[in-house]
Amino acid sequence: MIKVITYGTYDLFHEGHYRLLQRAKQLGDYLIVGVTTEEYDRTRGKLNVIDSLMTRIENVKKTGFADEIIIEESAGQKFRDIQKYKVDIFTVGSDWTGQFDYLKDYCEVIYLERTKNISSTMLRTKNRQIPRIGIIGTGRIANRFIPESKLVSGLSTQGVYNPHMEHALRFAEKWEINAYQDLEAFFEAIDAVYIASPHGTHYAYIKSALEHGKHVLCEKPMVLETARAEELFSCAKEKNLVLMEGIKTAYCPGFANLMGIACSGIIGNIRNVETCFTKLERPDSRELTDVIYGGSFTELGSYVLLPIVKLFGKEYKQLLFHSISGENGLDLFTKASFIYPNGIATATCGLGVKSEGRLLIAGTKGYLVAEAPWWKTTYFEVHYEDPGKVEKFSDRFLGEGLRYEISDFLSMINGSSKNEFKLTRGESTTMAGIMEQFLRENRDYEHMGA
Ligand code: CTP
Repeated sequence: MIKVITYGTYDLFHEGHYRLLQRAKQLGDYLIVGVTTEEYDRTRGKLNVIDSLMTRIENVKKTGFADEIIIEESAGQKFRDIQKYKVDIFTVGSDWTGQFDYLKDYCEVIYLERTKNISSTMLRTKNRQIPRIGIIGTGRIANRFIPESKLVSGLSTQGVYNPHMEHALRFAEKWEINAYQDLEAFFEAIDAVYIASPHGTHYAYIKSALEHGKHVLCEKPMVLETARAEELFSCAKEKNLVLMEGIKTAYCPGFANLMGIACSGIIGNIRNVETCFTKLERPDSRELTDVIYGGSFTELGSYVLLPIVKLFGKEYKQLLFHSISGENGLDLFTKASFIYPNGIATATCGLGVKSEGRLLIAGTKGYLVAEAPWWKTTYFEVHYEDPGKVEKFSDRFLGEGLRYEISDFLSMINGSSKNEFKLTRGESTTMAGIMEQFLRENRDYEHMGA
């Protein structure tokens, strides 16, 4: 009996898939089809898969060509499967020519002619209007956004807005997009906006964008007040628009996995969460000189609050802030201490004090630890009472990591809410409330209003 194996995502099942499976089956007597998981696809940079794993498996099954269907979860699995299933022929489409020659030592490798003019990527973008994205802000993060957005298929970056035309022009020239100084004209030209302007401007830009019917992805911290977060989320809901806070950690595959493991019960009931993120900034930086919106907590707080709010929620009984401040009153280092009904937590961040950046989640049976840069989660460990028993987990975090949130933003615009859990409206609102308390206690609140 000749055994054949082939692999694919089989998203939005199409004729190219059908013809590939048909010919693969004809190569032998028994066909095994490996269908990729969404997680694996994300780690290899294939974002925006629409159909669930079950739907994709069902579609492969319906062709009647597969004698066995397996799930492909990681790189390196093909090599193992071929030996495990005693495969004679490995086959894939000609778009992969040469890439699997390393398997020739174990079986025959055949690249089948790919069917022309059809692909899942084409179908994902066909019949869908490709959202035109505009960027507000021309700083460091905005510059990271463009190359990352190019890796997500199905959107186009249209233009940039900055009230100072020379900044907009410089940015637009660099990235070959249009420059806008007039907000009305900018909104006219786009469907969705990425806001990467200073914190204090977020609220007004989001409100205006929503009023103009635009979807919004806003850099963290989205807003600094509970009432404002509630108002904006309600407005978005009413208008059927997407409003997402861009905390990149929340959307990266490793962090989602870490949260899943922490909540799985393997470390028992979670009782203590400690997070720390420090990043030394120059004393003359915007972060340490903007006396209204600068400082460590407004700058880095979103990262260190994220695991705490995701794991313990909004019902804290007490929240205390302790800061070390510079001469201008801005916090160089802040510790936020929470008491929850069943646990405690501390979130530490600093722009002027260096410390070990770590995420520690302690439970009644064990603890989970991720070292810096845990906010770009690639690796974490689970430890137990027995020091010899350590479980290790790793994931990929590609590039600047913005591609993950952009891809989720796009899926939400396209009507899928399957990734909404990664950072919910309630979690963003809770974080805005924590920022609000910090600012009320530490700043001249009359001057706030972001
Ligand atoms: N395939 C094919 N002809 C096509 C499209 C895909 O023969 N027109 C083959 C691929 O070469 C692969 C299998 O079908 O062996 C599964 O491919 P998959 O990556 O799931 O499909 P694509 O349409 O290529 O998906 P995408 O656009 O997301 O890359």
